[in-house]
Amino acid sequence: MVKTAILYASGMTKNTKRLAEYIAKRVDGDLFDLKEMTLIDVSNYETVVFGTGIHAGKPYKQVLGYVKANKKSLEGKDVKLFISCMYNDEKGKQQCAKVSKEFGIPDAVFFNKKEKEMNEDGFPASVDAFIARLRCLPY
Ligand SMILES: Cc1cc2nc3c(=O)[nH]c(=O)nc-3n(C[C@H](O)[C@H](O)[C@H](O)COP(=O)(O)O)c2cc1C
Repeated sequence: MVKTAILYASGMTKNTKRLAEYIAKRVDGDLFDLKEMTLIDVSNYETVVFGTGIHAGKPYKQVLGYVKANKKSLEGKDVKLFISCMYNDEKGKQQCAKVSKEFGIPDAVFFNKKEKEMNEDGFPASVDAFIARLRCLPY
């Protein structure tokens, strides 16, 4: 079966952690907290999802640091980024585009609590759309 790793860093609200846990549960993925560990071998994963919160326009250094240090091992994989943030609409889009560039991960999305449509687990409906696009989807 195709395997997925979800690597994230979360702050005080744990919003990013909750999103990462939800995604991991849905795709039967392995979850790694980059604030707890930094030496993660992703070579056995086909899909690698990164998650970060945003403070003052910047992603968490643990996540950006990991991606920059492991560019080679991410080659050829389905690599995606999700951002947990407070900005939505145009401002959210612009911020997401900037962060996506910083990471060098074109496939980036942002989630926040202002989204109108929530799923039955209390997550933005766009999270489910994101999950549906992952290469790993086991069902
Ligand atoms: C000090 C601080 C600065 C923040 N700056 C931004 C920001 O520049 N842009 C944004 O969209 N959200 C910003 N936020 C909101 C967080 O990114 C958002 O609440 C996110 O879900 C936090 O997730 P976490 O607690 O898992 O890190 C900020 C929050 C805090 C506490």
